[in-house]
Amino acid sequence: MGYWLDVDTGIDDAVALLAAAGAIPAGGWAWVSAVAGNVGLDAVVDNTLRVLAAAGREEVPVFRGADRPLVRGRVDAAYAHGESGLGGVVLPPPRRAPEGDLLALAARLAQVPDGSLTLVATGPLTNVALLCRLAPDLMRRKVARTVWMGGGRGRGNVTAAAEFNAYADPEAAAVVLEALAPVAVVDLVTTHAAHLTPDEVRDLARAGSRGALARALLEDPAYGGARADGVVVHDAVALLAAVRPGEMFDLRPAPVEVDLSRGPSYGATLVGPKANGPQALWPTAPDRARFAAMLAAALA
Ligand code: BDR
Ligand code: CA
Repeated sequence: MGYWLDVDTGIDDAVALLAAAGAIPAGGWAWVSAVAGNVGLDAVVDNTLRVLAAAGREEVPVFRGADRPLVRGRVDAAYAHGESGLGGVVLPPPRRAPEGDLLALAARLAQVPDGSLTLVATGPLTNVALLCRLAPDLMRRKVARTVWMGGGRGRGNVTAAAEFNAYADPEAAAVVLEALAPVAVVDLVTTHAAHLTPDEVRDLARAGSRGALARALLEDPAYGGARADGVVVHDAVALLAAVRPGEMFDLRPAPVEVDLSRGPSYGATLVGPKANGPQALWPTAPDRARFAAMLAAALA
């Protein structure tokens, strides 16, 4: 089984990449694709290459994806990740270039065995939606499982109704939730319930160099990780849920509908029996302490 991470690196995406370096065995990490989201695409690609180098995983191919959403205008989250996307943390410049664009990724996709990929998406779903439109059969055949950090059951963080990854490209989210159903949606309700305490963040540094980097990123003043109720490491929750299924929470099916009307609820994910959309899989209450322990282990 190979892992495909689609990221908009970002502070918590960076922590997810660092955790992936410990949690995914050698040869099990297929590639990473970069999408505009938290910051612009150039910065996302650059950050992704820098973080993979810091994690000692420069063999993992990186593809350059979409620089803007399918339909809406671009929004970013520099308010929570700093202008660079990594707050004030400065890593050495990359020593390599990306492998290619989404077409190159599609060609690579055609070569892997059917049912061999787990897709973990931690940004807006633009790349995945474009590939679902370009090659729907290929995507369905190759991708056995999709886990997305996004959405919220009645909870928003950009607007009262919408979570950032859903809000940044709602049309793409609707395409992907339909095309790759049932997608496991690690939403805001789950990631906030799995927050770390400030002490747990500090102790990550004991794990070694990847843990120390994760601590520096999460303690960066730029990171708006909802400190009042803990430090929320959204994307690392999704990553570890994908790599170690069933250890933090179970998944329950329920339909999801993405609000595509341009009103105050644009980008909201509506969940429940009356939702007019595909089935998705929703986490039960997460075991917070288990997540903290799994993250520390993955960063060691
Ligand atoms: C999500 O939005 C981004 O800012 C984070 O990286 C995470 O993927 C949380 O809403
Ligand atoms: Ca992200």
